[in-house]
Amino acid sequence: MFSEQQERPGHEAMHTGATASAARPLRAMVLGASGFIGHHVVQALLADGAQVLGVRRPHGAAGTAPAPATLANADHDRLRWRFLPLHTVLEPAAWQAQLEEVDVVINCVGILRQRSGESYEQVHHAMPRALATACAAAGVRLIHTSALGLHEGAKSRFLSSKLRGEQAIQASGADHCIVRPSLIDGLGGFGASWLRMLAGWPVHFVPRGATGRIAALQASDLGQAYAVLARMPTLSGQREANLGGERLFAYREYLQLLRGVEHTEQPVAPALQVQLPDWMSRTGAHLCDLFRFSPFSYGHWILLQRDNMPLPNALPPLLGRAPLPVTHRRVALRDDFRLS
Ligand SMILES: NC(=O)c1ccc[n+]([C@@H]2O[C@H](COP(=O)([O-])OP(=O)(O)OC[C@H]3O[C@@H](n4cnc5c(N)ncnc54)[C@H](OP(=O)(O)O)[C@@H]3O)[C@@H](O)[C@H]2O)c1
Repeated sequence: MFSEQQERPGHEAMHTGATASAARPLRAMVLGASGFIGHHVVQALLADGAQVLGVRRPHGAAGTAPAPATLANADHDRLRWRFLPLHTVLEPAAWQAQLEEVDVVINCVGILRQRSGESYEQVHHAMPRALATACAAAGVRLIHTSALGLHEGAKSRFLSSKLRGEQAIQASGADHCIVRPSLIDGLGGFGASWLRMLAGWPVHFVPRGATGRIAALQASDLGQAYAVLARMPTLSGQREANLGGERLFAYREYLQLLRGVEHTEQPVAPALQVQLPDWMSRTGAHLCDLFRFSPFSYGHWILLQRDNMPLPNALPPLLGRAPLPVTHRRVALRDDFRLS
């Protein structure tokens, strides 16, 4: 049985007794391993035989995190935890010890809203910049999670900090890949759960300006794509990976799909869709940010107005197959895998 470990930075090895040989398992450090994307990445890496060091934020006064639920016995020995407030690890020197015995770092960290002492700048830019510089020095590969639709001049600190994070990694000299997923569906996703809840309502309130197309993808496919990238001996041939499903949706169509209108056995009546004027959507986004309510933010309002699809889509070549479609059915994680 896996037991959660409380560890001080740099004071443990990811695995014991393993020597560097061709047969040695991949040693992957996953930042934000308890998050939506992060736990799908951990699951895929474990299924792939990797040794995984999951990094997550300390919770509570004692610096302990809630116990993870059961993992398959075979996986326990290959998953360890380290607890780090990553918004404080902002210098390359502070990353040096963290990178010992690590082949590849996968950064799945992000914040939807700033908190006291934890800014977009720290989490999305300064931390990845320091990490990338340290990875370059240590010869550790870096896979960084970003988002589609980032652009210069976006009047959102959420989006601009993510863009600066990308640019810092690109300038760092690290052997890196920047992964930009489209909208992700799957269990455990804050946005994904909200969208499914909203889709169930008989009336959908749809921002009129939400004309951008979405190439929604399954979180399990995304996790597998990361595992494929992590195995690559160098990422020099894959500096970017824009990932999405094969079908494109407008936001309003996506809500109807999640509702089940395309369900062949028991089709559900389409919801009545009411269009909201842009001023109302924008004000609503600011209010959501102010009251920290729902995944809808000003940054997401900006993203909804632009296409959010990968061109080209790196997901099919990485998986070696077509991506799983997103349907009204929820795809369950393996029953024995509940990290959070
Ligand atoms: N979900 C999507 O559809 C989607 C699509 C495209 C791109 N993305 C991007 O992918 C990234 C991850 O998204 P997600 O949906 O997986 O988010 P998530 O579920 O909120 O996971 C974020 C992870 O980052 C960790 N984290 C945040 N701040 C931290 C800190 N200061 N120290 C240590 N850990 C910290 C969180 O830990 P705690 O849980 O302890 O806070 C959590 O494990 C974000 O940058 C997001 O913008 C997401």
